[in-house]
Formats: sequence, structure tokens, C-alpha cells
Amino acid sequence: KSGNKDVLFKLHTDAAAFYHRILTDSPDGEEARRYMEERDLPMEIIREWQIGYAPQGWEELRSRAKKKGYTDEQLEAAGLVVPSDRNGKKSFYDRFRSRVMFPICDQMGRVIGFSGRIMNKAEKTAKYVNSPETLLFKKNRVLFGFDKARKPIVESRQAIVVEGQIDAIRCHQAGLDNVVASQGTALTDNHAKMIKRYADEVVLVLDADAAGVKAALASSEIFIANELSVRVVTLPEKEDPDSLIKNSGRDVLIKLVEEAPGALDFLIDAFQRSENIKTEAGRMRVVKAVLNLISHCPSAARRDPMIRGASDRLNISPLALNQDLGRIKPQQR
Ligand code: CTP
Ligand code: MN
Ligand code: MN
Ligand code: MN
Ligand code: MN
Repeated sequence: KSGNKDVLFKLHTDAAAFYHRILTDSPDGEEARRYMEERDLPMEIIREWQIGYAPQGWEELRSRAKKKGYTDEQLEAAGLVVPSDRNGKKSFYDRFRSRVMFPICDQMGRVIGFSGRIMNKAEKTAKYVNSPETLLFKKNRVLFGFDKARKPIVESRQAIVVEGQIDAIRCHQAGLDNVVASQGTALTDNHAKMIKRYADEVVLVLDADAAGVKAALASSEIFIANELSVRVVTLPEKEDPDSLIKNSGRDVLIKLVEEAPGALDFLIDAFQRSENIKTEAGRMRVVKAVLNLISHCPSAARRDPMIRGASDRLNISPLALNQDLGRIKPQQR
């Protein structure tokens, strides 16, 4: 049956091994090997994360998988091929072509999907192509690197969340092992519950741009609603964790993580940068955002220090903040 999970696991294992072999051993992987060298991702890392390369043909994976006995229906159910209708005749072609392939694993380390990066910037397709939602791959339940980060997360009771898979890989290489990547998608309640099983605190490391700030606030609400402490790192402009570690060294990132403000202070800082909170209207907008963030926190004992912190920074009495808090409903972003 095409929907059989065991077959899909096996197919992903085989596909990851195929892509990996091309990158490590095949003449077809020459350009990709040069790209990996330029990106400072050495063979040791390629092996550890089983990174691969999808060659440029239209049926490279498909023809090999079919020789091994897999069907087009199974390949389609795995998201590895895409159907096309040529003159009313259904056929299939490889979803991933000419891309560096990052296997995405479940908590047990089984491959359940892929993210493929194009090497040539000039090409007019998306920088990353990812597996679609399948029986195995549910975007809102997967964090890249979680299988490798889980033990370090348990040991430190802290999870660091970055955006990209290369960011996560670079952090692990630099000895920051409790790092997972959201892979550019919005963090969900499922992600928060996954982390909450092992950690007390989340440190978000997101881009400094406006989109990054919005994402940080939305994610903070979800983590706070799940009784996780949240701190937020603001990276120097134009940097991500990968580039920061390469340009400035791991200690700079570690310091940013150590000194990162809590979600509430991050929010007030963001408002202070973007508008005048000395005016009545500006101040009320901050207050509203602050109350909304606090309202997501289910525990009064956790709300209390947030209210006192907000009271100090906004010069509003805790009593007034508490009264207003009682009148609002948490808004989902
Ligand atoms: N992403 C995606 N599809 C895109 C762009 C981004 O799925 N078209 C996801 C990827 O998981 C990516 C993450 O969002 O890793 C962050 O995006 P970006 O910062 O643009 O990529 P980087 O991880 O920095 O990749 P690189 O360093 O190779 O440019
Ligand atoms: Mn390591
Ligand atoms: Mn960005
Ligand atoms: Mn990057
Ligand atoms: Mn990036």
C-alpha cells in the first residue's frame, strides 16, 4: 500500500543514502562538493548530518527507487516525486533536482523529509525546496536537529531556536548542542509542547529585521502559553547564527544568548525603537501589547514578575496593569 508508514520510512532512508552517496562519492557531486567547501561545511559535518546532493536529472532518484521495487505511488506519497500530466498521460519527476539535500529527522533520528538548497544564486527558483506534508512529515511537529539536540536540551533545560538548518548545524559544530531550527516556518503549539517536555526555557535567535521581530513576538506568546520562559536574541544586522559564528566566533553568539532579555523586555525595547512611547497614544500601544503578551501566561506566579517588570519600565502601577489585564482576552497574532 502506498500509504504504509514503514515503506515510507524505508524509502526516506534509501533516498537519504542515495543523495549522500552522490555528495560524498560520485562525479555528479563535484560541483556540490566545491559548494560545501565554500560554505565551510567539511566532510565530517556532511557525514554527521548525512547531507546529500540531488543530481540534476529529472528521474535520477525515481529510476533508482523503481529498480529497488518502489512504486510511483509510494514515491509520490513520500513527496519525493511530483506528478505531471503530459498529453493526458500521467508521469512523475523528481521533486529535488540540483540541490544540496538536508535530511529532516524525527525525534528518533529517522529521516522523514528533506530540505534542498539551490547552489546557484542566479537561478530563478526558490532558494529552498522542502518536502510537502506527508504521512511522515508534518511541518508543525518537526524541528530540525531535535534528535541531536534533545539530550543537550534535557541537560541544560534550555532550547535555543534558530531559523535555518545551516544555522543549527553551525551551532552544533561550534559546541552549542541544544540548538534546533524552525526552518523558516511559524512556531506552533505542537513545537512548544515538544520543547516543554525537556526544557524550562527557550532562547529565540531570529533575524534582526521586522519580520524577525514579528516572528519573535508571535513565538513568545506560544511558548509563554505553554509555561516556558522565553528570552530573545537580536542578532547584529545582516547576520544569522551561521555567519555570526564564522565572522565573529562562537563566543560572541554565546554572550548574546547569555545576555538576551526576556520576551517582555524585548517587546518593550522593540516598541521603544519604533515609536515614541513618551506620547499618550504611543504609550497605550505598548501597554496593550504588553498586556496581551502577559495575558498568554496561564500561571499567576509567572505573571507577577512580568507585571512588576512592565510596571517599572512603563511607570504604571501594578494594580492598574492587573485591573486592565482582567478585562482583556489573549489575542492570537
Ligand atoms: N526557507 C525556506 N524556503 C525559502 C527560504 C527559506 O524553507 N525559500 C527556510 C529554510 O529552512 C531556511 C530558513 O527558512 O534555512 C531561513 O531562511 P534564510 O535565512 O533565507 O536561509 P539560510 O538558512 O540563511 O540559508 P543560507 O545561509 O544558505 O542562505
Ligand atoms: Mn556536536
Ligand atoms: Mn529573514
Ligand atoms: Mn545563512
Ligand atoms: Mn539566514
